[in-house]
Amino acid sequence: MQKINLNPAIPPLPKPIDKRKVDVRYMLLPPYASVHIYWHDKLGELVYEVEEPLLTNYEKSALWKIEEAMLELININVAKDKDLNSVLEYIDKTARLIIDELNLKVRKDSYEKLFYYLFRDFIGYNEIDPLLRDYFIEDIECNGVNTPVFIVHRIYRNLRTNIIFRDMEYLASFVEKLAQRAGRYVSYAQPLLDGTLPDGSRVNATYTKDVSSRGPTFTIRKFTKIPWTPTQLIAMNTLSPEMLAYFWLLIEHKSSIVVAGGTASGKTTLLNALAFFIPPEARVVSIEDTREINLPRENWLPAVARTSIGVGKVGEVDLFDILKSSFRQNPDYLIVGEVRGKEAFVLFQGMASGHASLSTIHADSVETLIRRLQTPPINLSPTLVNTLDAVAVATHAVVRGNETRRIREITEIVNVNLDGTALINTPFRWDPHTDSFFIKFDSKVFEKISLRTGISVKDLQKEMMTRAKLLFELYKRRVFGFDEVGKVINAYYKNPAQVIYSFNISP
Ligand SMILES: Nc1ncnc2c1ncn2[C@@H]1O[C@H](COP(=O)(O)OP(=O)(O)OP(=O)(O)O)[C@@H](O)[C@H]1O
Ligand SMILES: [Mg+2]
Repeated sequence: MQKINLNPAIPPLPKPIDKRKVDVRYMLLPPYASVHIYWHDKLGELVYEVEEPLLTNYEKSALWKIEEAMLELININVAKDKDLNSVLEYIDKTARLIIDELNLKVRKDSYEKLFYYLFRDFIGYNEIDPLLRDYFIEDIECNGVNTPVFIVHRIYRNLRTNIIFRDMEYLASFVEKLAQRAGRYVSYAQPLLDGTLPDGSRVNATYTKDVSSRGPTFTIRKFTKIPWTPTQLIAMNTLSPEMLAYFWLLIEHKSSIVVAGGTASGKTTLLNALAFFIPPEARVVSIEDTREINLPRENWLPAVARTSIGVGKVGEVDLFDILKSSFRQNPDYLIVGEVRGKEAFVLFQGMASGHASLSTIHADSVETLIRRLQTPPINLSPTLVNTLDAVAVATHAVVRGNETRRIREITEIVNVNLDGTALINTPFRWDPHTDSFFIKFDSKVFEKISLRTGISVKDLQKEMMTRAKLLFELYKRRVFGFDEVGKVINAYYKNPAQVIYSFNISP
């Protein structure tokens, strides 16, 4: 049987000091596909070139014939349910059968190459399959025919690839394939796709064969399978241990938190990291349009809103309905992937009646957020907005020449007046000049918690510092893993003294 290595080693890639000197090559699907990233003098930029086996004209025509015959023979849905090895075997057997039937002359080395393409096109995602297998790729973007596919690379950021779709029909059928894999449907009548691929990657696409446009488009945001943990965010300097400890206390005491920020500012990433702080025995319900959230716990009910046409009215109603029924399950914590429309009303009502919540909203400042919440389509009353305790503002940042993310501030909603204006307090602030975080020991939310629980504000502050030390210690000891970090936080809930002791922390 032919072998394709689906789990190649992840190469160490250092941050380049001089982009012009970059010249790296690593395997994507050994031994067949690799990538070459290098400085392109003429373009004056770094390029990402996928390298695949070259086919002779004879091999190309053989591949077409085999693929055509295979389309008739193979039942991909049957193949999908099997484990990968038996699928590879199945393709191998069928291909050999076809070659015999059609009397094609295919030598052994040719067959190996053809097998790679059959795998790529039937099991994988055609031309972009190698990209989807690159650990370093975050986003893949195609803006139509005759224009290169672009990617976002963890180390080298935005890169042009050598993949170009030339044929409108072909690209349209590829978008159909993406829709099918996401369990959705696209057509002229429903040209927008917003879904999740089986590996958790998020896909958005438009479907058109209109000749006046560049044709269909798609973007794929790859699912970073294991979400980032709080300690990893400390390692990235996204926010400080004190800020995380502050949220830890807020979450323990059932406060309501929103992560605000612009597109791709790291909202969902922070939301997921904060969810680590939910007490282990609490009942959690999470609601999303597309699956992005992953929690280290058992008592968790994830729900994905089923929308058939992606963004727009239908999607909002669905999230709204799911949210309503979620409250009937009486969760202690409710996580809403992204608040966009009238479902906000249900969420904030739930918050007003004592449910803790974590969510994200697209808004690049607290002022914008407060305004967005009170204007269409969200339209909340000032009283409801008042139930929000704290807002983290995520932002893109360039630090020492590198694109990254920072939590620019944590702001508390002290009071929303009847005219819609808000009184706010900002205990944490990021300083872009020094790339450090400033803390002000004055938290209105701590005062609220103190009134509710009888724990003094001083003790809350002390507890915050102890937890900050613990998180920092975890970071120093390189405890980054999803399960490991989850375990320590859960253990702390059960027996803080013991955790403090075992990590050698002075309270
Ligand atoms: N703290 C961080 N440091 C560096 N990169 C990050 C950080 N958080 C997220 N990213 C990167 O930014 C991209 C977007 O992250 P994320 O999905 O969390 O953003 P978002 O604000 O929720 O986006 P959207 O607007 O699409 O909902 C991801 O590819 C992720 O790898
Ligand atoms: Mg998001």
